[in-house]
Amino acid sequence: MSYFGGRVGFNMKKSHLGKPVGLREGNRAGPGTVTRHAVHRNRPAGELYWETKMKKDKETNHTTVGRRFFLGAGAAAGVAGVGGAFGIGSPSRELKAATKSGGLSAEVHPGELDEYYGIFSGGQSGEVRVLGIPSGRELKRIPVFNFDAAYGWGTTNYSKRLLKGKISGDTHHVHLSYSNGTYDGKYSFVNDKAQGRLARIRLDQMVVDAITDIPHSQGTHGIFPSRHKLDGVYCNSEFRTPLPNDGRDMTNPKKYGALHTCVDAKTMKVRWQIEVDGNLDLCATDYDGKYSMACSYNSEGGVTLAEMIAADRDYLIVFNLARIEAAVKAGKGRRIGKSKVPVLDGGKGSPYTLYIPIPKSPHGVNVDPTGRYAVCSGKLSPTVSVVELKKIGEAFEGKIKPRACVVAEPEVGLGPLHTAFDNRGDAYTSIFIDSVVTQWNIADAVAGRNPVKQKLDIHYQIGHINASMSETKDADGNWVVALNKFSKDRFLPVGAFRPENDQLIDISTGRMRLAHDASSHPEPHDAVIVRRDLIRPKKIWDRKDSRFDLERKLAARYGVKLGEESKVVRDGKKVFVFMIGVAPQFSLSEFTVKQGDTVTIVLANNDGVEDLSHGFCMSHHDINFGVSTQEVASVTFKAKKKGVFWYYCPWFCHALHLEMRGRMLVT
Ligand code: CUA
Repeated sequence: MSYFGGRVGFNMKKSHLGKPVGLREGNRAGPGTVTRHAVHRNRPAGELYWETKMKKDKETNHTTVGRRFFLGAGAAAGVAGVGGAFGIGSPSRELKAATKSGGLSAEVHPGELDEYYGIFSGGQSGEVRVLGIPSGRELKRIPVFNFDAAYGWGTTNYSKRLLKGKISGDTHHVHLSYSNGTYDGKYSFVNDKAQGRLARIRLDQMVVDAITDIPHSQGTHGIFPSRHKLDGVYCNSEFRTPLPNDGRDMTNPKKYGALHTCVDAKTMKVRWQIEVDGNLDLCATDYDGKYSMACSYNSEGGVTLAEMIAADRDYLIVFNLARIEAAVKAGKGRRIGKSKVPVLDGGKGSPYTLYIPIPKSPHGVNVDPTGRYAVCSGKLSPTVSVVELKKIGEAFEGKIKPRACVVAEPEVGLGPLHTAFDNRGDAYTSIFIDSVVTQWNIADAVAGRNPVKQKLDIHYQIGHINASMSETKDADGNWVVALNKFSKDRFLPVGAFRPENDQLIDISTGRMRLAHDASSHPEPHDAVIVRRDLIRPKKIWDRKDSRFDLERKLAARYGVKLGEESKVVRDGKKVFVFMIGVAPQFSLSEFTVKQGDTVTIVLANNDGVEDLSHGFCMSHHDINFGVSTQEVASVTFKAKKKGVFWYYCPWFCHALHLEMRGRMLVT
């Protein structure tokens, strides 16, 4: 099968070999011209199956089957259950033994699918990335706090509303939404350390659908969602600042504060904040919805390096969520500046917080899959502190000292940062200074035995670490990913800035074996590895999706049937161009505006086949965005110069993709 036949086979039949669908009359339009598009009429007879299929899928709310449906291997799965297309639900079909000892193969052969999704933060690139695990193949870059021309993130009206003019961010921690202690496949959450924001990604399309500003928070760093249900997302401020930060108290760091913030995961509105002593670093939640917790370094309240690392002990701060919610409900808490969010005082000794002393400048806190222990990594201490969560209730009631919650503190190496878990009771701690991963057994540590089982060299200087399903009760002990800060000699040199090195480690045999190196653009900080059957992406857009509300409103205002009609409407100095794309044509091959007009293009992709994306690039206007199958998007720009400007489709959609274009005439 040829490339085109393979890629757009159905579409070729529909719109190239047959009549272009939906583009039959009046391909030219000026203001006021209406062109009707009867998208489903006059299809070749061969399309009948496809249409029936589409209709069925719409009724059952399932996405359409793709090429794999027609290609032998996937056919049975496709017929058996439309939603479970190409057998993604089948567990561990492709986990393969690589070694005689029964380890796993990191090789994913051509045409095979990965067993896991890796959802990686993109660090200072401001994005989130989706990788296949174990192959390390990059499947998607999800623009979040950054600009992305391919999708038009930062250009479309939808994304501009969320970004509010900002084009950079620093994503560190990416976590998924939970139900009953495991991933529910609905959302991913990611922080922006640079500008104090939290974003939500809807995993059905892997696109951002909400961005929330965290009030009075600088260095919004660790985040973690509730694990019992879709409830809160807890966000830590790493930097202490005056509260409010309006010019007061600048030279008096004693008056600075840091906040632990609860964002409602459903509405993405900020529910409450609580001020702490010291600053906050990584975040975790328990499995019961009782506590959120944060490692806190700089209990000294210093502003220089020497001041911040003076004390031998800092804290794990545990937040008593029931007490906090009750206090907020009772109307307690002050307001800071113009923010309406209630802020409680969670300083040492408050009823809302427990300060558990741990050594020294701790960084990561991770709760094990049994929900019994939180493991805090010392960073400047060679130890990890194992906190038994069921003791926390007694400590809150004053029956035991906070430090009595620490049930083990084994030495694991120099510079421990983060810990991942398998399903066999072992923990895997990233050790930055030693450049190793230390595998150690939690029960051995608690019993006072030497828990260290193996140390594996890492290339080089590991930061975050995670294991397959490690942050859930369904940890499966197959893979560990080590996110390394330096790659040095591991890849071809590319100038002074090098890629990072994400290393994959097979842990399925109970021992660590380095399986794979993968270079990555700077700089993934954290990642989760989730079984593929838990993520259920749609293959095309539903035209009724709320994401298109803005465009729907515009169409309604001007009496246009969105995605069914093409129309150019003038409203004073504003011109609205409603257009449809069906490969290989735009429904309007030209439109005319006046110099100085503000032009809004509303483009609907009316193709029905999966992976048939179009886009819209207006030459010399800094306008470029994509619309995938059945998607609608809009952009607004100024027509500053007189002349002819070609718009074209930047996504390779058809043999006549280059001809998918038209002219804007600016008079
Ligand atoms: Cu549509 Cu290229």
